[in-house]
Amino acid sequence: MSSLVFLTGATGFVGSHVAESLMRAGYRVRCAVRATSDTRWIEGREVETVTIDLASRSMLEAALEGVEHVVHAAGLTRARYDADYFFVNAEITEIIASAAARASVRRFVLVSSLAARGPDGGRGPASPYGASKLEAERRLATVVESAEGMQTRVLRPGGVYGPRDTDLLPLFRLAASGFVPVPGVVGRLQPVYAADVAAAVLRALGNESEVAGPLALGGPEVHSWEEIAAALGAAVGREVRPVRVPASLFLAAGTVAELTAKLLGRAPDLDRRRAIDLTRLDWTCELDPVERALGWRPAVTLQEGLTEAAAWYREMGWLRR
Ligand SMILES: NC(=O)c1ccc[n+]([C@@H]2O[C@H](COP(=O)([O-])OP(=O)(O)OC[C@H]3O[C@@H](n4cnc5c(N)ncnc54)[C@H](OP(=O)(O)O)[C@@H]3O)[C@@H](O)[C@H]2O)c1
Repeated sequence: MSSLVFLTGATGFVGSHVAESLMRAGYRVRCAVRATSDTRWIEGREVETVTIDLASRSMLEAALEGVEHVVHAAGLTRARYDADYFFVNAEITEIIASAAARASVRRFVLVSSLAARGPDGGRGPASPYGASKLEAERRLATVVESAEGMQTRVLRPGGVYGPRDTDLLPLFRLAASGFVPVPGVVGRLQPVYAADVAAAVLRALGNESEVAGPLALGGPEVHSWEEIAAALGAAVGREVRPVRVPASLFLAAGTVAELTAKLLGRAPDLDRRRAIDLTRLDWTCELDPVERALGWRPAVTLQEGLTEAAAWYREMGWLRR
């Protein structure tokens, strides 16, 4: 019988792509969902779902029965309070990892983030979100030190894009209307296509060798904002005029959005940390380490990926034809 994988975060953007790849590769997939989860991306698929509180050790014990590998892709990327990042991203990772070690799981893949490393230059995480993802990695390492036999792989994708992503959708819509705001500062990015991230997870599960340290995942090329704007235009079939927006305006927008969201009791779409991340800093990575460790390289160029994403948005009626 094929291996059973316990997958968290399958109802989200990245996790739904992982679920698809696992199924296609012949794994049996048990998806952890919450009573409140929107399950539309996994409905009708050949996956098992278990409704579970990931912070509950007893529920995890039952859910991990017969499981060979764990892929932990659930995470909080927007939060009202910093403590929420730490609870969901770090604390819950530790709880799942401990339960997995007790259940004699063979391989544990943590979907971390380049935010755990921080922007180029080695300054470390630039935000509470990044710090919480780094803390998740540390907690996992501590659990594994005292548990024999469980192999871990920590993947750190940079910005992920593709079908089902709602973060970049506004930029596609702006591109379709003929202009894209471009921060008037440096900021080189290496976005990675969701299906490529899912392919890296497959490699991480299928590879038997020991993997030391976290592995950064990025797209095949590094891009400036102008290049991203042009590629977005090509993806939606429009000549796009990049509109230079001063970085200070981006930061002001981030601050205002954050305050408004706090007043409304929601997690903000854009906050100061995202604004700083996106406008002031380079987020690139070397791909050789992950290629050496897992034999993975991204297959999808930015133009191909944005074009596929735009086609998917149109099909869903999220982007006008
Ligand atoms: N998107 C990116 O650009 C990117 C880049 C690097 C790393 N990552 C990492 O990839 C992972 C997924 O991110 P995403 O962009 O796919 O986010 P997403 O679309 O918001 O999905 C988040 C997933 O995590 C689950 N989740 C959140 N809080 C939970 C909790 N308290 N208990 C159980 N499940 C919970 C959500 O379940 P519900 O459906 O029930 O809410 C959902 O399935 C995260 O770990 C993130 O750090 C993302």
